[in-house]
Amino acid sequence: MKKIFLALTIAAVGLSLSSCGDSKKKDTPEVTTTEEVAAPKEGFEVSISGNDAMQFDKTEIRVPVGETIILTLTHSGKMDKTVMGHNFVVLKTGVDVAAFAEKAAVASDSDYIPQSELNSIIAHTKTIGGGETTTIEFKITEAGTYPFMCTFPAHYALMKGEIIAE
Ligand code: CO
Repeated sequence: MKKIFLALTIAAVGLSLSSCGDSKKKDTPEVTTTEEVAAPKEGFEVSISGNDAMQFDKTEIRVPVGETIILTLTHSGKMDKTVMGHNFVVLKTGVDVAAFAEKAAVASDSDYIPQSELNSIIAHTKTIGGGETTTIEFKITEAGTYPFMCTFPAHYALMKGEIIAE
């Protein structure tokens, strides 16, 4: 969220600078309403973190059906993403989770997201390493229980849980 905020603020400053050269705009305020431009996104915020011991800090996440979910994954450890990478992948109901995890674990060329199984995925983050954070937005449009996991090789054994949409 902070990164988005900063980027929008910079964009607003850029706009006001470029309008300086335009003499017609003298009577309008120099600075556009930064607050309006950088208004926080609306949505249901969720955070989850993974550590160097291959664990998520949550195994169950409750979310409202149909609302935008703003999910932030943080890697609270120090290890590099090549040895202790974490991502957050939400699957549709009915997917064979173990089979999916097996295919994902060998999908190193596509950041551990198996391109043959995209139909099984509702949402996913990128893979991050120690100290990093990433945010995604998605919606779940039907009430139910949805599996989530980290698809880094072997992490599925410990790093998994359920999203309950209600
Ligand atoms: Co992981």
